[in-house]
Amino acid sequence: MAINLQQFLAKQLSDGVIDQQLCDLLNAVADLSKEINDKVTHGALAGVLGFAGTDNVQGEHQKKLDVITNEIFVEGVEWTGALAGMASEEMDHCLPTPAAYKRGKYLIMFDPLDGSSNIDINAPIGTIFSITKAPEGKIADESFLTPGRKQIAAGYVMYSPQTILTLTVGNGVFMFTLNLGTGEYILKTTKENIRIPVQTQEFAINMSNMRHWEAPVQKYVQELLAGDTGPLGKNFNMRWVAAMVAEVHRVLCRGGIFMYPRDNRDPSKPGKLRLMYEANPMSFLIEQAGGKATNGYQNILDLQPEKLHQRVAVFLGSAEEVERVTSYHE
Ligand code: F6P
Ligand code: MN
Repeated sequence: MAINLQQFLAKQLSDGVIDQQLCDLLNAVADLSKEINDKVTHGALAGVLGFAGTDNVQGEHQKKLDVITNEIFVEGVEWTGALAGMASEEMDHCLPTPAAYKRGKYLIMFDPLDGSSNIDINAPIGTIFSITKAPEGKIADESFLTPGRKQIAAGYVMYSPQTILTLTVGNGVFMFTLNLGTGEYILKTTKENIRIPVQTQEFAINMSNMRHWEAPVQKYVQELLAGDTGPLGKNFNMRWVAAMVAEVHRVLCRGGIFMYPRDNRDPSKPGKLRLMYEANPMSFLIEQAGGKATNGYQNILDLQPEKLHQRVAVFLGSAEEVERVTSYHE
């Protein structure tokens, strides 16, 4: 029988996998994602398309929806009593829980709208979140800098033909589909305990950056392109959705390797994706589904973060291929 997210979380609570605060927080994230879903599906009708006229801390031009969804996220979780603070791709610094609300034991980091360049073309976008334990005392940006291995929960919501919430609380990966009629996230039995195939014949990388890649990635992608007459002895297909949420979702559903390597375009940036609210939560999901995630040298979840908005190279997905490209870096 199909159960909904609330029932699933209640079971995790009674099994002692999560506590009441985490249960409340995850239910709040699910609720606010329905509001984001409403905004993104109405698009032009809600007047939410186009640029906001501001830049975020990474110097990227913010879309109206980046700003709106950030607000929805903040307002959706700040009151829960589960949080000591939060941090977002769209906020320069962290936001400790306002004094008006009860302080809780967790921190949440999020990318409120991943894949911003897809917004105006009605292609897949998503929301990513990572939850860790808060340290005692005053909350500052440094309070968030724990390795991804310490995450308590992580997930994403993907807004596409279907709206799907994918979650791990450390005992596997579960996918819930939003029933727009009832407003419930439903766990389909086929989407329980997702496993990523170890082998794959599908890769995803932005090929337009090829000339900027470092030698190990050049070598690996040449081998993928060489197909069944090359050293890997099989043909590969390629996909690029330009929204990490959609790429990770595909990898979880049918395997594959997704790569965003560091490159020589801007040597100050070790990759494009952000560690704390993109690479870490996605790597937690990927490992929980039996896949691997590295920065070419180390498991992403073992990296010691240095800055809230730091960037990282990402190779994630089917274990055999992630291990191969990682070995080329050694
Ligand atoms: O958040 C950054 C992001 O939008 C990811 O979702 C996506 O994987 C990537 O950037 C797309 O990058 P590019 O613009 O190089 O295609
Ligand atoms: Mn993003």
